[in-house]
Amino acid sequence: MSVLTSESGAEGRDLLVVRDLRLGVGEGEGSFEPVVGAALRADRGEVVGVVGESGSGKSLMLRAIAGLLPPGVDYRGGEVTVGGIDVPHAKPADLHRLRGETVGMIFQEPMTALNPTMRIGTQIAEAARAHRDLGRGEAKARAIDLLGRMGFTEPARQYRLYPHELSGGMRQRVVIAIALAGEPALLLCDEPTTALDATVTMRVLDLIVGLVSDLDIGVVLVTHDLGVAARICDRIVVMYAGRMLEEGPADKVLRRPRHPYTLALLRAVPTRETTIEELRAIPGTPPVPQEQLPGCPFAPRCEFAEDACLREVRTVAIEDGRTTACRRHEVLAKMVEGAGV
Ligand SMILES: Nc1ncnc2c1ncn2[C@@H]1O[C@H](COP(=O)(O)OP(=O)(O)O)[C@@H](O)[C@H]1O
Ligand SMILES: [Mg+2]
Repeated sequence: MSVLTSESGAEGRDLLVVRDLRLGVGEGEGSFEPVVGAALRADRGEVVGVVGESGSGKSLMLRAIAGLLPPGVDYRGGEVTVGGIDVPHAKPADLHRLRGETVGMIFQEPMTALNPTMRIGTQIAEAARAHRDLGRGEAKARAIDLLGRMGFTEPARQYRLYPHELSGGMRQRVVIAIALAGEPALLLCDEPTTALDATVTMRVLDLIVGLVSDLDIGVVLVTHDLGVAARICDRIVVMYAGRMLEEGPADKVLRRPRHPYTLALLRAVPTRETTIEELRAIPGTPPVPQEQLPGCPFAPRCEFAEDACLREVRTVAIEDGRTTACRRHEVLAKMVEGAGV
C-alpha cells in the first residue's frame, strides 16, 4: 500500500476506510437497512470496484462516503473515514472541505450533471474556484489543462463549447473534469459509463486508469457490469442486499470466485462463445431490502446453501488477502478449480 502524502490529511493511513457501515431508511415500522455491514478500503494509485445487481446498495454506500445521503436515509452505525475526516460525524464546514478537495464524485445520472446554459470550460473553472483559492485566470488555465487531460485535442478553443455541442462520451469527460477540478485524492464514480456505447466506454475507462497513475488518485468505481470491473479494477468488492459478500484482488475474484453469488454473476455474463442455452440467469427472485434475513442474503437462491447458511452469516479471511461471507467457500473452491467457471 502506498504511503499517503500529507495533502490528503491522512498521513500513513488509508485514504478511505469503510467499516461495518449500516444505513437506515425511515423510522419505526416500515424502517429498513439498505446497507448492512458494508466494508471498503481504497488508497491512492488503485481502482476499487464495487459490483452487484441493481438495488444492492452500491449508490447509497458511495453517497455515504461523500457525506451526501439522500433525505430519509441516515447513518446507523459503523465507520466512514476519508482522508482522516470522520464523515458521519463531520461538521458542515468539514463536509464542504471533504467534497471537492478530498473527494470528487460522479453521480449515476449523467445528463443532470452539466448546466446546459453554461460553457463547459466555465463549469470546470467554477468547480476549481469553489474548492481551491484560485484567481479567474488560474482557474481557466486549470480548466484548459483538465480538458487536455480528458482527451480534448484543442482545449483552449473547446473550453467555449456548450454541453449540447458535445457527444455523450465528451460530456462524460467534462463531468469527470468537474469532479477532478478541486484536485481530490479520491474519485467516486457511480456507473460512469452506463449511458455510453461500448467503444466510448472503453476509452473513458482507459482515461480513468491513466488519471490514477498521472494524478496519483484513488478511485472507487461502482458498476453492475463485470466487464467494466474486469478492465480497470485492482480490487473488487461484491455486494448483495446491502452486504459485502466477497472482496479481493480483481483477477482472483473474477477467475476464482469464493462466493456463489459472484459465480452466479459471472455465469450470467455473455461472452463471444456463449450460446443462449448456456447463459444462466440467477435463479429465484432478487432480495427485497425490507425483508432482512438473519443468515446469508443469497442463501434462498444458492445451489450450495445448507440450513446453517439461513441462520448465520460471517465474513472470513481466506487466501491471497481475500475475504468471503460464504461458510461453504471450500466446497465452492473445489468445484471452481475442478471444472472451470
Ligand atoms: N433515497 C432513498 N430513499 C429510500 N430508500 C432508498 C433511497 N435510495 C435507495 N433506497 C433503497 O436502497 C436500496 C439500494 O439502493 P441503491 O444504493 O440505489 O442500489 P444500487 O445502486 O446498488 O442499485 C434500494 O433498493 C432502495 O430500496
Ligand atoms: Mg446505483
